Amino acid sequence: WHAAATRADGEAWVSSIPALIDGNSDGLRAGGHFNTEDIERLGKASHEAYLRIRPLLAERGRQGFVRRCHGDLHLANIALIDDQPVLFDAIEFDAQMATVDVFYDLAFTLMDLLQHDQLRAANTALNRYLAATPADNLDALSVLPLFMSIRAAIRAQVALARLKRPHSDRPGIVDEAQRYFDLARMLIRPPAPRLIAVGGLSGTGKTVLAYALAPFVAPQPGAVVLRSDLVRKQMFGVEDTHRLPPSAYTPEVTAHVYDTLAQHARRVLAQGHSALIDGVFAREDERDAIAALARERNVSLNGLFLVADLATRQARIGSRRGDASDATQEVAALQEHYKIGHVGWATIDASGTEAQTLQNCRNAIAKGQTTQPD
Ligand SMILES: Nc1ncnc2c1ncn2[C@@H]1O[C@H](COP(=O)(O)OP(=O)(O)OP(=O)(O)O)[C@@H](O)[C@H]1O
Ligand SMILES: [Mg+2]
Repeated sequence: WHAAATRADGEAWVSSIPALIDGNSDGLRAGGHFNTEDIERLGKASHEAYLRIRPLLAERGRQGFVRRCHGDLHLANIALIDDQPVLFDAIEFDAQMATVDVFYDLAFTLMDLLQHDQLRAANTALNRYLAATPADNLDALSVLPLFMSIRAAIRAQVALARLKRPHSDRPGIVDEAQRYFDLARMLIRPPAPRLIAVGGLSGTGKTVLAYALAPFVAPQPGAVVLRSDLVRKQMFGVEDTHRLPPSAYTPEVTAHVYDTLAQHARRVLAQGHSALIDGVFAREDERDAIAALARERNVSLNGLFLVADLATRQARIGSRRGDASDATQEVAALQEHYKIGHVGWATIDASGTEAQTLQNCRNAIAKGQTTQPD
C-alpha cells in the first residue's frame, strides 16, 4: 500500500502537526471526562516531542516518506479475509488529511494493537514493516512515540463521541476512552532503550526466542529484531530462505555480518528504540563488540546465551521448515568444537519448551543476571 502510494511534498503535513496536538487537547477537555492537568501535560510533552523530531520529519518528506496514505488505519478498518488483512474505509474525502508520513499511518495500527493487548502482533507488524521497507526507516523510529500517542488521543475522543448516541453503553465507552487516553500519556514518555543480544549454537531456539521476547522489550511496540541470517542473505542479494554455499560463511563474511548488525543496532538505539540481535555469537570478540556498542550508546546490555545439548539441537534443526538459517545437523555437530571462550552473558537453559525458554530469559533479565559488567 505505502510503496504504491503517491509521494507528496511533506511541508503541509509537518507544519499541521501542532494544530493536530492542540485539537486533541481541546477535544479531550471538551469531553469533560479526563483530568485537565493530565491533558495539559500530554499536550506539552507532545509539543516538545514535535520540536525534537521536526527536522527529521522535514527530511522524511524530502526522502519520499510522506505519501497519500490510508489515513485511518485503526483495527476496525482492517478485515481479515481468507487470512489476508484487507484495508478498507480509507480517508478518501480529504487528500490533505491522508497525506502523511507513512509511519503516521503505521502508528495507528501499532497503537491500536497495543490498546487491544496484542503486543506480539504489534511487534511483528513493526518488524515486518521494517524488513519490507527501506532501511532509512530505522533512522525514524523516534517519531513513533508521538505518532502513536496522537493516534491514541484521537481514538479517546472518537470513543467519547459515541456517548452522544442514544442507548450507548456508558461505562464501557468511558472505560475504553480512558484506556486510550492513558495509552496516549504512556506512549509520549518512552523509557530508555536497551540492547539485547541472543547468542547460542544453531538449534538452541534463538530466533524463536527473539520474536517471543521482543514484544516485552520497551519502548513500545517492542524491540527491533536484527537477525544475522537475514543480514547475510541481504548481503548476497538473495531471498531469506535461499540456501547460501559455505563460501558465504568465511570468517571475513561473518565479521562483516556482525559489523552490519552492530551498525543497524546503533541506528535503532540512536532513535531511542531498543534493538535485539539474534546471532550465534560464538566468538568472544563478537560478544565484546556488542558490549562496546552498549557502552558507546550508554544503554544497558542484556546478553543471553542459549544452551541445549547436541541431540536436541539436531532434532530441532531436522524438523525446521522455511527458516532463513542455513545451519544443518552437520553444522550443528561441527559447532560442538567451537572455542566459545568466556561467556559474560547469562547462560540460559533452552532445552525445554519455547515458553520455558522465554520465561528463563525474562527471569534472568529481571534478576539482572544478563548485564555484562564493564
Ligand atoms: N524450546 C523449543 N522447543 C522445541 N522446539 C523449538 C524450541 N525452540 C525452537 N524450536 C524449534 O527448533 C527449530 C530451531 O529453532 P530456531 O530456528 O529458533 O533456532 P536458532 O538457534 O535460531 O538456529 P540458527 O542458529 O540455525 O538460526 C525451529 O524449528 C523452532 O521452531
Ligand atoms: Mg535462527
